[in-house]
Amino acid sequence: IMPRDTAGLTSLGPPPRRRHPLQSWAYYASAADDGWTAQQSKSIWSQVRLRPRVLRNVDGPVDLRTRIVGHESRLPFMISPAAMGKLAHKDGELCLVEGAGRVGIPYAPSNHASVAHRDLAAAARPGQTLFFQLYVHRERWRSEKQLAEAKRLGFRAVVLTVDVAIPGNRELDLRTGLDENAVALANAGKEVGQHVLAVATTAATIDASVTFDDIAWVKKASDGLPVLVKGIQCVEDALDAVAADADGLVLSNHGGRQVNTASTPLEILLELRRHAPHLLSSPSKLTIVVDGGIRRGTDVVKALCLGAHAVSLARPFMFSLVYGPDGVEKVARILEDEVVRAMKLLGVRSVEELGPEYVNARRVERL
Ligand code: FNR
Repeated sequence: IMPRDTAGLTSLGPPPRRRHPLQSWAYYASAADDGWTAQQSKSIWSQVRLRPRVLRNVDGPVDLRTRIVGHESRLPFMISPAAMGKLAHKDGELCLVEGAGRVGIPYAPSNHASVAHRDLAAAARPGQTLFFQLYVHRERWRSEKQLAEAKRLGFRAVVLTVDVAIPGNRELDLRTGLDENAVALANAGKEVGQHVLAVATTAATIDASVTFDDIAWVKKASDGLPVLVKGIQCVEDALDAVAADADGLVLSNHGGRQVNTASTPLEILLELRRHAPHLLSSPSKLTIVVDGGIRRGTDVVKALCLGAHAVSLARPFMFSLVYGPDGVEKVARILEDEVVRAMKLLGVRSVEELGPEYVNARRVERL
């Protein structure tokens, strides 16, 4: 039973805007240019129609378990990296660790989290799965140090984000004046090496010379952690990442925050299905995660039917931070309930049973 404080959270959107400081709301909501890709990434899921089957025995519990790079998740979704949790709550990303731990799903704190990774690792419960998100630093030794530390702290995989060679054009942030003061506040007291990291320094610190060959470097520096390459947006890059020994792909346009009018995650998934179906064949060694615009249980189920092993969400969890860990947990429970309902109404009782026969994606395939 949730405390009354989260009673207003009844679905994953729209955000409780009145409860947010303007700058956290704007930073979390922000997208590139006029936000077309961010919008479409959400709305396009409704273009895929479900094909429910009836008169099947769906009495009893539904098994929602899945595996992400070898680690079990109790639910087929996880929490994406997003920077600056302290803009919305004094404990910042610690709330996400606690919420993810309560519901048994993986969480990948941002490389630019506003809480130090050693404190996040210390807050995790035994057996809890945390992944380490990396933006490759121009001074490579800093990334090497962070990767070695991540391994030591018990992070179980690296999420290598590759879609931020340079930052996108986030106009909402410019309008509301997300300034260096707010950034400094969010990162206050967080030492990373000699540096206090801040998103304002993203452009200055991210190495734009990273290539597929660096996947091997990440593996070496992290002493063999599996690598999920986040920000794959076409079949060619999916194949190159796999050839370079990626253990998983996160099909993602960074929540529409990088290049506007880029494909939606659903379209990327369909492109892989069409041109490289072997990448999606389950059970496969490769983990496919779909990230961006997931807001309903039916969205989750559609991605799973089309070959994803799991999906990942950022904004709903970031907005929930104003309610602390209870908000994070409640967002996950709402989504869990919706996934269970959708699956029972489709006539299935486990993630494994979901397949393309439960959807009609022709409208989007024609795009
Ligand atoms: C992000 N995202 C992101 N990704 C990443 O790899 N490292 C990061 O530090 C951040 N920071 C970040 C901040 C905020 C406020 C947002 C909203 C997003 C991208 C994120 O991981 C994810 O790809 C998208 O946000 C997913 O889309 P939804 O679920 O937010 O629609």
